[in-house]
Amino acid sequence: MDNRRIDQGYLTGTQYKDSSNLSARMNLHKDYTQAEHDWQPWVFERLKLKPGQRILECGCGPGKLWQENLDDIPERCHITLTDLSDGMVAEAKSALDGSEHHFEFQPLNIESLDFEDYTFDTVIANHMLYHVPDIPKAIGEVTRVLKPNGRFIAATNGNNHLKELGEIGRELFDDVEELSGTRLQTLEDRMLDFRLENGIDFLEDHFSQVDLHIYESNLLVTESAPLVRYVMSMIGIDQSPPAGVIEKLTAYLDNEIGTKGHIFITKETGLFVAKV
Ligand SMILES: C[S@@+](CC[C@H](N)C(=O)[O-])C[C@H]1O[C@@H](n2cnc3c(N)ncnc32)[C@H](O)[C@@H]1O
Repeated sequence: MDNRRIDQGYLTGTQYKDSSNLSARMNLHKDYTQAEHDWQPWVFERLKLKPGQRILECGCGPGKLWQENLDDIPERCHITLTDLSDGMVAEAKSALDGSEHHFEFQPLNIESLDFEDYTFDTVIANHMLYHVPDIPKAIGEVTRVLKPNGRFIAATNGNNHLKELGEIGRELFDDVEELSGTRLQTLEDRMLDFRLENGIDFLEDHFSQVDLHIYESNLLVTESAPLVRYVMSMIGIDQSPPAGVIEKLTAYLDNEIGTKGHIFITKETGLFVAKV
């Protein structure tokens, strides 16, 4: 099992030192997802924000949730965006600082939230809890800073998310050490520590009500290059992949697309809405 996923030195120094790896993955989802609504608006709708509320996002990345929903943020909200990675916080700040809404930005680990008890109406952890070494500690911190009647929104993936990528990895790259532990290669890596199947086990002792919302969607990919970029982002988009990997993967994907017209990839993603 690859533990780079919770290695905070790797996460802040390589994988999320800026948004380049994450963007390669987001672009694939944005361009090839078959779904009724885009992901970030779908998440935003479930926040059910009201005017004047205080909101905390942990692991905000470059701040896409807010960039894509700027026009729908209620007035007088006070929104604090935090991330373990200084680079991500800097990108979120440069994207959102000039907006008419009240944003604050702070590098911060969800395991140790630097806020008073009962500060926030809503706390958001959008696809980030599976990077946290001590999930119960993080959820303890979230509940501490939430107001009575506050809500916690935690998005994550399920065991079958992108399972076809794992199958391609096993077929093509069984002998490539650098790819072991990426989502391409191992089924285990999809057994996230906090996932749709087990998230309720972490949440139910802390919250009076927990509801799971599934984002009904799949990927139909019609070009090889964005999929290759996705796979390379798991290694690190600025790292040199082992010789021949890109060529082999591209040839395989081009052949599949040439034969079937597209590559179908299962998505299993969604979020928990937990009420104090
Ligand atoms: C998959 S990205 C998601 C970014 C953003 N929430 C989104 O959905 O676009 C995970 C983010 O969580 C951050 N992260 C990882 N561990 C963290 C921790 N312990 N505390 C706060 N942020 C963390 C990473 O730096 C990265 O920006």
